[in-house]
Amino acid sequence: MKKFQEKLGQLEERGRLRSLNLPAGIDLTSNDYLGLRGHPALRRAAMDAIGAGIDLGAGGSRLLRGHQSAHENLEIFAAGFFNAEKTLYFSSGYQANFALFTTLPSRHDVILYDSLIHASARDGINASHAKSLRIPHNDLDAYETALKRLNEGKNDRRVWLAVESVYSMDGDMAPLRELGALCRRYDAMLVVDEAHATGVLGYEGRGLSFGMPHHNRITLHTCGKALGVAGGLVCAPGVLIDYMINAARPFIFSTAPPPLQALLTHEALKLAQGREGQSRREKLAALCKTAQKLFGGHGTHIVPIILGEDRRAVAVAEHLQGKGYDIRAIRPPSVAEGTARLRLSLSAALDEDDLHRFAAHLKPQMERRAA
Ligand SMILES: Cc1ncc(COP(=O)(O)O)c(C=O)c1O
Repeated sequence: MKKFQEKLGQLEERGRLRSLNLPAGIDLTSNDYLGLRGHPALRRAAMDAIGAGIDLGAGGSRLLRGHQSAHENLEIFAAGFFNAEKTLYFSSGYQANFALFTTLPSRHDVILYDSLIHASARDGINASHAKSLRIPHNDLDAYETALKRLNEGKNDRRVWLAVESVYSMDGDMAPLRELGALCRRYDAMLVVDEAHATGVLGYEGRGLSFGMPHHNRITLHTCGKALGVAGGLVCAPGVLIDYMINAARPFIFSTAPPPLQALLTHEALKLAQGREGQSRREKLAALCKTAQKLFGGHGTHIVPIILGEDRRAVAVAEHLQGKGYDIRAIRPPSVAEGTARLRLSLSAALDEDDLHRFAAHLKPQMERRAA
């Protein structure tokens, strides 16, 4: 125990100790971008399903007794929505990413991954048998140089490119069209994590890669952010999904997500697709414009307010929490050393006034830093 206490002490000394805090104040921190988490249509769907006797737990892995019509219906709907041959639903986006990268790339393959890619993809890449190469953030030249080199004397090696459509801690976007063209030119597979675009960006919230050729593309859609429920959907050519069903250990050796979770995710996708989703996306887009004027950033719903030092980020976050805002300090290893920040996360549940009032509280903190 002493060893762990020492490690915790070291984290505290560096301003890096984390603890669990219940939500309090105006939500500027969750990923509930459309504000669907408590939507009456989802509550009603949950109550109807419970009334009709849906199982609360799956009772087994998908390959055994755990596979139910709620999972199947969701996957069929999602395949149509995201324009994929097939989809596979996991309990979480983390599990989906981990399964994807540990199952599809083989030991002869190489994964090129963006330096800012999410920990769930990184963990999958690290645990995969394939070799991997970190590419500087959004550096198209570096991708092309690596692809060109790997294409020489190729044998049966496949190259995989792993990127996010909207980066989770910076809110900027990947140059997807250009990356797609590179992948087609060099016969590589593009894997796009659409975690922060799903429900929000692209036609009807289908993600930023929607509409791109899909024979050399895999997308991952998390369902616990804008969709307000939980889970992760891998969308891919049918043969890859069939292979994952047969070989992805996180899929095979894990109890299936509760059927109720699958049913609610399905309802949330329908909600996101329809008029409700559209009007919430429009409201969010207006908030993004205001936020960019007030705080900078890339004009998306994720606005980084970089403070540098870990302790500084914690102090500013605590100050703003005291003013009634739920905003948290993001520190390494979630972000690079020296770039601790507030991650302002916008939601259609907010109003313009919320942003202006928050900016008024933040301003003196930023000025104090500059002084
Ligand atoms: C880019 C990205 N991918 C995957 C995940 C994991 O998704 P989940 O929270 O559903 O496990 C996250 C979660 O923060 C994320 O930001």
